[in-house]
Amino acid sequence: MGILDGRVAIVTGAGRGIGRGHARLLAEHGARVVVNDLGSAMEGGGRDARPANAVVDEIVAAGGTAVANGADVSSFDGARALVAQAVDEWGRLDILVNNAGIIRDAMSFKMDEATFDSVINVHLKGHFATCRFAPSTGVSARRPATTSRAASSTP
Ligand SMILES: NC(=O)c1ccc[n+]([C@@H]2O[C@H](COP(=O)([O-])OP(=O)(O)OC[C@H]3O[C@@H](n4cnc5c(N)ncnc54)[C@H](O)[C@@H]3O)[C@@H](O)[C@H]2O)c1
Repeated sequence: MGILDGRVAIVTGAGRGIGRGHARLLAEHGARVVVNDLGSAMEGGGRDARPANAVVDEIVAAGGTAVANGADVSSFDGARALVAQAVDEWGRLDILVNNAGIIRDAMSFKMDEATFDSVINVHLKGHFATCRFAPSTGVSARRPATTSRAASSTP
């Protein structure tokens, strides 16, 4: 019996890196996990369902429960659909890990506006958007979901 049996978690950007680790650990402790990942390339742009699907396969192979989600959390539509998937699938949402992030390294005096905006969109708006829609499930009105901010907001 796991300490998270019966709980439902969303981890954003869980197709790779730290988010993958969050998702696998939550599932190992019994949570059902929505593995969100846009699957964008490291240098930005594009979408790819394979990273999220691969993590779901790993969790299921280890005896856990997970579903993939390819939404872009930097849009309200994407965040709304992500939260809706958790609730449609399992009827509740208990844990939200805001991990999705991108890296656009540049000295401040060399950074262009589009690059700055792209980081702020994922790290700031992407955090807000998921938190914006999580309470609208009605689930957290009874017992607020636990949220965690993993992503750095520094461009
Ligand atoms: N690795 C570090 O040393 C470090 C240090 C400080 C902060 N962080 C932060 O931790 C988080 C995870 O870092 P990581 O190294 O595991 O990154 P990573 O690049 O390995 O994984 C991030 C994932 O987020 C996904 N993603 C990007 N934009 C998305 C969007 N709009 N919607 C949904 N998914 C999206 C990407 O497809 C990628 O798979 C990031 O937010 C990063 O800024 C990392």
